[in-house]
Amino acid sequence: MNRWLAIVALAGLLAACDQNMDEQPRYSEYSRAPLFRGSVLRPPPANTVARDDLELEKAASTKPALSAELLARGRERFGIFCSPCHGAGGDGTGIVVQRGMPRPTSYHDDRLRTAEDQYFFDVITNGHGAMYSYAARVPPRDRWAIVAYIRALQLSRHASLDDMPADERARLESRP
Ligand code: HEC
Repeated sequence: MNRWLAIVALAGLLAACDQNMDEQPRYSEYSRAPLFRGSVLRPPPANTVARDDLELEKAASTKPALSAELLARGRERFGIFCSPCHGAGGDGTGIVVQRGMPRPTSYHDDRLRTAEDQYFFDVITNGHGAMYSYAARVPPRDRWAIVAYIRALQLSRHASLDDMPADERARLESRP
């Protein structure tokens, strides 16, 4: 008799092991809270700022000064995050586009050549049409670096003699 009792108790225990952890009693975030007014997910107190928000916002609103280091960083980040679709030269013919992604407008298009730096920054931050946002992968300073590099790419196809430093130009023009 005792043995049967033990077996029944054991069976009961094993059955309990099978209970799915997902099915524990719990609240869903947006349901009405039983204890206080509003939803279970509490809104943060007024004027709360998340830990890194101020830093990120500052980096987003201050365009770093142009330097060789910034351009090098932009070139590297562009190669990683943008060239797969936009191509190394910015024509919009990267490998992903060759495999079926819609072709983006070339950076050398007049509309994008005359667009503000801020426009490029915003496209990286928010995405644009079929292009998704890179805000989570490219921090603000790197976005500015990429924008600087895109400007260099654009200049590389539209530079005139007048853009050259005087000494370089003199050197070029003195060549036979
Ligand atoms: C996965 C592919 C892909 C990647 C990676 C990508 N883009 Fe794009 N991008 C697109 C596509 C597609 C469009 C065109 C979207 C549309 O018009 O619907 C576009 C459009 C743009 C435009 C033009 C918006 C306009 O007004 O026509 C800019 C500027 C741009 N991308 C910048 C970037 C930068 C900078 C990066 C890297 C941080 C990047 N993109 C990474 C696919 C990509």
